[in-house]
Amino acid sequence: MRQPLKKTQKMFYFSRQYDTIPKNYKKYGIDGNEENEMAGSTFGELFRVTTWGESHGKAVGAVVDGCPAGLELSEEDIQRYLDRRKPGQNRYTTKRSESDTVRILSGVFEGKTTGTPISLLVPNEDQHSKDYSNLKDVYRPGHADLGFDAKYGFRDYRGGGRSSGRETIGRVAAGAVAAKILQNMGIRVQAYVASVGPVDCDPSHYDEVNLAEYLDGSRLQMPDREAEARAEAYLEECMKDGDSSGGIVECIVTGMPAGIGEPVFDKLDALLGQAIFSIGAVKGVEIGDGFAAARARGSQNNDQYGRNSMYADNSGEVTAGESADNDNYDDITAGESADNDKSGEHTHKLREGGIYKNSNHAGGILGGISDGSDIRIRAAFKPTPSISPLQHALGRDGRVHDLEIKGRHDPLIAPRAAVVVECMTAITVLDLLMRNMNSRMDSLSF
Ligand SMILES: Cc1cc2nc3c(=O)[nH]c(=O)nc-3n(C[C@H](O)[C@H](O)[C@H](O)COP(=O)(O)O)c2cc1C
Repeated sequence: MRQPLKKTQKMFYFSRQYDTIPKNYKKYGIDGNEENEMAGSTFGELFRVTTWGESHGKAVGAVVDGCPAGLELSEEDIQRYLDRRKPGQNRYTTKRSESDTVRILSGVFEGKTTGTPISLLVPNEDQHSKDYSNLKDVYRPGHADLGFDAKYGFRDYRGGGRSSGRETIGRVAAGAVAAKILQNMGIRVQAYVASVGPVDCDPSHYDEVNLAEYLDGSRLQMPDREAEARAEAYLEECMKDGDSSGGIVECIVTGMPAGIGEPVFDKLDALLGQAIFSIGAVKGVEIGDGFAAARARGSQNNDQYGRNSMYADNSGEVTAGESADNDNYDDITAGESADNDKSGEHTHKLREGGIYKNSNHAGGILGGISDGSDIRIRAAFKPTPSISPLQHALGRDGRVHDLEIKGRHDPLIAPRAAVVVECMTAITVLDLLMRNMNSRMDSLSF
């Protein structure tokens, strides 16, 4: 592990960003090859996303480095995603009035990406920084305030600064680019709200293959409209008390080839976990059956393999006693042509080789590597921490103070965060797909 840098080293370390590493810096152990490890604002190895900006600063945004040249990309492509995240959509989102209009500043020429960094900017338009003046010297319960002060010695208390939900704008803008590349490869990522407080969607009330249709016009991003009506009633109760609710976002990746993910520390599920846990308010991430797998038996939890012919009746069931026939197994390789046209018939159909699984408890990932079936992720969002009832907050003076929180807040984070989960998933999957391209000798030939 690298030793912490001394003060003098830190100064020189930053100068690396300007590509001006004088020769004598080498005596401090700086040779220009250091990773930028300081601030943790960058995610991805080959498809690299850096987000920047604070909630009450001039703007927020992202820089995407590593996007291949030749992708058709417009501001509208990105705006569609940002519109799903933007505030003020209905009574269940914060009243902060932001158009969240994106501008592409670089990396696109004549409608196509150039292979150089894509810089994306979204101005902040509707800050009410005064609403936060009473928070200058207290740490709000459920917020990052205390940690930021402990770490940096002071903080941007207006709207949470970097820990604000607005930071996720950069993730969505960058994720829209990743999602467009994935779509060109036949891979689709779709997230939705599966639960609000105690109300769960019933999967028999919607068709997973056409999720986007079911979500069209949904105020809470729930595909089950019966559940949504109950969730709205529950939220109304919470809001009457000035309170908030938690929720669960589920994300499904379809058309995924087998073989994606690095085998040890950079497993597909490990990096998805990091990507999604890094979203504010996420307190749990599950892949496939997740925690429920701990209560199952091996015989229930193993996904058994079958062949195409077993599903001739489209029932989706493997008949008892029919043995799984693995003779096509060797045919499953990443990057083979997509066979997506029937993906709707069987959720557990693997992308290549006519192979099927009779269940998908693993959520499409085994050994940290995709198995070619749908990837299923669930993210638990805690209730919005800013609530109206009187609370007790710790002051910078070390005393406990009564606190009433003003400002405009989401009574529930999950509906606006669904697209953030979707975008972080897209970025992770694309980055690992790119990394996979040098996993074999034959893919190195040209
Ligand atoms: C899209 C999005 C919107 C959010 N909106 C709010 C909000 O309106 N009010 C609030 O108190 N927290 C909101 N949060 C959550 C806080 O940013 C987060 O809970 C806080 O920074 C503490 O971090 P932690 O919950 O990850 O520990 C939002 C988070 C996201 C991802």
